[in-house]
Amino acid sequence: MTHFDIVVIGAGAAGMFAAMRAGQRGRRVLLLDHAEEPGKKILISGGGRCNFTNLGCAPDRFLSGNRHFARSALARYTQHDFIALVRKHRIAFHEKTLGQLFCDGSARQVVAMLLAECGAAGVDLRLRHRVTEISRSDRFTIATDHGAFTADSLVLATGGLSIPKMGATGFTHDIARRFGLPLAEPRPGLVPLTFAGEALDLMRPLAGVALPVIARCGKAAFPEAMLFTHRGLSGPAVLQVSSYWREGEAITLDLLPDRDAAALLLAAKRTRPKAEGRTILADLLPQRLAQSLAALHLPPRVIGETGDADLRRLGALLKAWTLTPAGTEGHAKAEVTLGGVDTAALSSQTMVAKNVPGLFVIGEAVDVTGWLGGYNFQWAWSSGWAAGEAA
Ligand code: FDA
Repeated sequence: MTHFDIVVIGAGAAGMFAAMRAGQRGRRVLLLDHAEEPGKKILISGGGRCNFTNLGCAPDRFLSGNRHFARSALARYTQHDFIALVRKHRIAFHEKTLGQLFCDGSARQVVAMLLAECGAAGVDLRLRHRVTEISRSDRFTIATDHGAFTADSLVLATGGLSIPKMGATGFTHDIARRFGLPLAEPRPGLVPLTFAGEALDLMRPLAGVALPVIARCGKAAFPEAMLFTHRGLSGPAVLQVSSYWREGEAITLDLLPDRDAAALLLAAKRTRPKAEGRTILADLLPQRLAQSLAALHLPPRVIGETGDADLRRLGALLKAWTLTPAGTEGHAKAEVTLGGVDTAALSSQTMVAKNVPGLFVIGEAVDVTGWLGGYNFQWAWSSGWAAGEAA
């Protein structure tokens, strides 16, 4: 049985980063993955260009049972540290919007960078290894379909449940549970919302229509684009609020951000009294949406003959369209998994399990989930670094 200082399970963003850092510290590291290639989610991320971090990364952009938990790791390995690494590897990048940094070329460059760093740090990477059993006495024993290994430290980095057809599993959750670590219920995050009944009847014919909105759920508010789909709503604004949404709750959409809808409609009644309501609305909203809303919420008259109360009511609806989703499109379409290993069981400084010496949990498998926009990779880098420094 070969012995290593550290075995990392999961050669994704967090696992490669932890292995790299531990290797740089002179630790003997084995990095195992069941997939045929490392970093598969990095490769598909950001539409193939990997939104690898966010300039505005801050702890308040993460959801967790303990909203302070991510602070320490994010402070010790920041977005600026990662940007310096990307620069060192001469990977060209740009800010797309809202501080989101993407490769100019391809996400492959990020995986190549991580592999180069792991290689330089002496990390032993083994792919297509299925872990069959893990046990712990004075050290960890990791049995695989290619033989068993022992290690002083074990780092669990197999990510969340999103996109199971890409090989996502609940492995870390299961192992953590077996070692007595509590779990915050995993659920899909950054996921399209589905609707039923009249709301869906309205949305389905609008599939493909996009517009800027402010989407709100509880205290969370996101001014970004929204997209109608065949099953409901998607687009960045809706993906963002989906992480805050719980079954049975409503979301609210402001379809005319920064504009006073009622005042605009009442002004149009004075200045263009012969125009139809849907024509006025089409100046404010995408045409197909304007037509649908006018058909539902305005009498079939020219705007000059429409009552002020009707226009005010429509104005209020445009500013706060309140809808109750039927559900989400689930892990199959979710970008991340909310919940995971409960942060109460982990040290926020090192990511080690408080009650299981030598066991570390990092990345998306932990109950820390970022907003859309590069935050989840930054958590993978930061939590991976924290474990790599300590393991
Ligand atoms: P990650 O999922 O990256 O890695 C887990 C690794 O463990 C994988 O290599 C997997 O094969 C392996 N594994 C799983 N089960 C195993 C088992 N039983 N045995 C052995 N190995 C196992 N984030 C962001 O910040 N910017 C972006 O642009 C995007 N874009 C994006 C697009 C899409 C389509 C998705 C689905 C997700 C994103 N994300 C994102 C989210 C981001 O990809 C995610 O948060 C990180 O990859 C999480 O990193 P981890 O290392 O924790 O898990």
